[in-house]
Amino acid sequence: MRSFDEHRAAVEARIERWCAAMPANGLHEPMAYLMRLPAKRVRPVSVLMAHELFGGAPEGAMEEALGIELFHNFTLMHDDIMDEAPLRRGRPTVHAKWNTNTAILSGDAMLVRAYMQMGRNARVMELFNRYALEVCEGQQLDMDFERLADVALVEYKEMIRLKTAVLLSCAMQVGAVLAGASESDVQRIGDIGEHLGLAFQLRDDLLDAFGDPDKVGKQVGGDLRAGKKTWLLIRGLEKSQQAGRTELREELTKAPTDRDVPRMIRVLEELAVRAEAEAEVVQHDEAALAGLDAIGTPEANKRPMRELAAMLMVRTH
Ligand code: IPE
Ligand code: IPE
Ligand code: MG
Ligand code: MG
Ligand code: MG
Repeated sequence: MRSFDEHRAAVEARIERWCAAMPANGLHEPMAYLMRLPAKRVRPVSVLMAHELFGGAPEGAMEEALGIELFHNFTLMHDDIMDEAPLRRGRPTVHAKWNTNTAILSGDAMLVRAYMQMGRNARVMELFNRYALEVCEGQQLDMDFERLADVALVEYKEMIRLKTAVLLSCAMQVGAVLAGASESDVQRIGDIGEHLGLAFQLRDDLLDAFGDPDKVGKQVGGDLRAGKKTWLLIRGLEKSQQAGRTELREELTKAPTDRDVPRMIRVLEELAVRAEAEAEVVQHDEAALAGLDAIGTPEANKRPMRELAAMLMVRTH
């Protein structure tokens, strides 16, 4: 069984070959730029890990792993336009470095290029179609929620399930399908991916508010400034009401550029919202590990997946 780092090295090599094969033109240069920036490669590695878990060859699902990473990068290129984000992976976002029209069109073409990787197995295609559409549903909810004064935690959970968790679930299911796993095992690994994905997005929300700017590679506090209804803000508003505190509401009535983000962060710390979110991450991680226990493959095959779950618990970017 390959470790996370071994899978990632193979993914990086495949990505570099893909980038080198792209035409040097205005449509493709932004794709190669984004793909070459330092990234964790959690989704393509998950494809390969799930593939090996069910007996597949180490790089047997590499083309689809690349397809999933291309899709992910397409969503980032467009997400950064929607979120007006200046930084991605420690560097200027595509729309900031070029312009918005370039990021729209290059992103569109990147989605096509992702699809070009996914066609060799009909079941894989079906999964990809389903979850790619769900990611868009999640992104739309994320934006809708920015304009709503009150969003419930259950609504937030469904939004992050769609915008983030289903892609990790899809990655693992794709790897499993290509290894010939049974329908029930595909379902099981899909549930594990979903739990890891929920933990992943909760961690992302935590890093946005509390992360080290040098490590995160994105503008820290951007979600609070934008009034994004993250787990932290939703729970923070609930607890503020119980405690009779008004700071968060006050800040949210201001224009985004006038918001005192450090003040908002202080309130979240004081109300122990951060600690609660950390506990929620642990809960999803444990659910994923329990799901892994229920899969009948040899324990040695599961080790890299356990390593992945542990890494996601402590990630700082
Ligand atoms: C960022 O994904 C978008 C989210 C769903 C939180 P990653 O945190 O996996 O970003 P990279 O690919 O490693 O840069
Ligand atoms: C990203 O969510 C989800 C997708 C791109 C589908 P975020 O907007 O929280 O991701 P970051 O924080 O910009 O990476
Ligand atoms: Mg964003
Ligand atoms: Mg976003
Ligand atoms: Mg985020």
